[in-house]
Amino acid sequence: MLKTHNCGELRLAHIDQSVTLCGWVQRVRDKGALLFVDLRDRYGVTQLVAREGETAPELIERIRNLGREFVLQAQGKVVERASKNPEMPTGNIEIELIQLDILNASKTPPFTIEDETDGGEELRMKYRYLDLRRNIVRKNLELRHRLNRETRQYLDSQEFIEVETPVLIKSTPEGARDFVVPSRMNEGQFYALPQSPQTFKQLLMVSGFDRYYQIVKCFRDEDLRADRQPEFTQIDCEMTFVNQEDILNTFEGMIKHLFKTVKDIDLEDFPRMTFADAMKFYGSDKPDIRFEMKFVELNEIAQNKGFKVFDDAQLVAGICAKGCAEYTRKQLDELTDWVKRPQIGAKGLVYVKCNADGTFKSSVDKFFAEEDLKTWATALQAEPGDLLLVLSGDTDKVRKQLGELRLEMGSRLGLRDKNVFSPLWVIDFPLLEWDEDSQRWYAMHHPFTSPKTEDIPLVEAGKLGEVRANAYDMVMNGVELGGGSIRIYQRPMQEKMLSILGFSDEEARNQFGFLMDAFEFGAPPHGGIAFGFDRLCSMFGGADSIRDFIAFPKNNSGRDVMLDSPSAISEEQLKELAIGLRK
Ligand code: AMO
Repeated sequence: MLKTHNCGELRLAHIDQSVTLCGWVQRVRDKGALLFVDLRDRYGVTQLVAREGETAPELIERIRNLGREFVLQAQGKVVERASKNPEMPTGNIEIELIQLDILNASKTPPFTIEDETDGGEELRMKYRYLDLRRNIVRKNLELRHRLNRETRQYLDSQEFIEVETPVLIKSTPEGARDFVVPSRMNEGQFYALPQSPQTFKQLLMVSGFDRYYQIVKCFRDEDLRADRQPEFTQIDCEMTFVNQEDILNTFEGMIKHLFKTVKDIDLEDFPRMTFADAMKFYGSDKPDIRFEMKFVELNEIAQNKGFKVFDDAQLVAGICAKGCAEYTRKQLDELTDWVKRPQIGAKGLVYVKCNADGTFKSSVDKFFAEEDLKTWATALQAEPGDLLLVLSGDTDKVRKQLGELRLEMGSRLGLRDKNVFSPLWVIDFPLLEWDEDSQRWYAMHHPFTSPKTEDIPLVEAGKLGEVRANAYDMVMNGVELGGGSIRIYQRPMQEKMLSILGFSDEEARNQFGFLMDAFEFGAPPHGGIAFGFDRLCSMFGGADSIRDFIAFPKNNSGRDVMLDSPSAISEEQLKELAIGLRK
């Protein structure tokens, strides 16, 4: 090795030892007679010191010519510092330089390699290898590594084995578009990159593997957001001879193990909420339950009092914002504008101030007497000093809008602490959802999810919207961390499902013949789940964006700005692939 120690490990116990360190120049401080170099590597920073009159003049000269990010090999003696730095783990010592070699020079980096950098996102992504030198970014990847290791540790202890599945496959419908790869040897034909290893893991269950997992890249050509990347990583799992309860327990165990080992947090048992309740009380299938502020439906008490907006509405529902009765007119106007933004889309906002003196003041005083407002306050369990916020309209829209408003108020009231973790299972998802635009049913999870046994008669009766699935999501702090289901494992049910989803017999056979054939060779009952590993990492790291936890992420337009990818390919390549030449 070119070094005897790393830049984070030397302490008073090493005094007088002769050491060699390698690393990057964080900065040079030239105090005239005294020169300091902060040398940095993955493990920390160590101060090197040279003294005019003591250190060899050519070394002093070399130090004066160093630039930021030069790569050095430094040899010297560990000495106690005169002025110690308690902020630094190595702050009690410094290295008196005996030898200094420049292993490589560096251009001035385009942004400072510090926790607080002057580099914007685009620039940092273009020079991501420099960005990754920054402590906070590197720490994120170290956290990712620890989570990866502990995930394997847990699943291994539960008899899961990791099996790799192919990346060049055929399209699996999971709701997003496929990325496709042309095949040179099969002109005009394409592989698809997996949106998930769903069908393969099911086949592994047919093969008797019993418990499978894979920490695996998945690819989805969908619109990107802070918590979505076109290629992302799943902890993908499947188990045989289990029911929903077994899966929930096994993976609740996994998440608890990760919190215990990585964060030393003991999570309580995860509550469970039906999809129906999640929508009714939080307006979302991924409720943030770090705080209450549940919806209360006010139809019975607020309708038929002559306020047309409410009377015409399918749903009138409100939330109670604790201690917000003091909101000024300006704040309320601003909040009203907030819900009317196109992203939220509410037509207006009704508010009721529950004043500290027991009186009420609302935006609908013209239509409602104090007595009426009081019944709302009672329904919403409001106390003097609270503010009621009420929306009305079509049920689905109101729930969505009020859900957004609830989150916004939660943020404004400081109820969404990143250091508080509130997991839950959302269960009993509908099997199917109707799409107005295309006038057809879609699988809410995916086409391999089984209906609840007790709801199978509803399938037979054609009451498709009422059928519940054996499907579940694990949600934490308003983020969907993972989702899965108990699968269909018999051919007739799978055929029926595909036909409901609009596949002709031929299309079903073409796309999923292999799976349905497998079901005829002793397929066992099975089910599973997949977690978004990047999301899990950002949850642990207390960040909103998963990008910070991916070494080389894509930007919001799906581009890798460092590689400048995607990019055009040569005419030669296009020809070889028999893809239509560009004009
Ligand atoms: P699902 O589609 O719900 O299920 O995906 C599982 C989890 O993967 C994460 N995720 C993503 N993370 C980052 N970027 C994306 N574009 C992205 N898309 C999804 C989410 C999600 O909960 N095969 C099924 C699982 C199963 O049934 O076992 C599946 O893929 O955290």
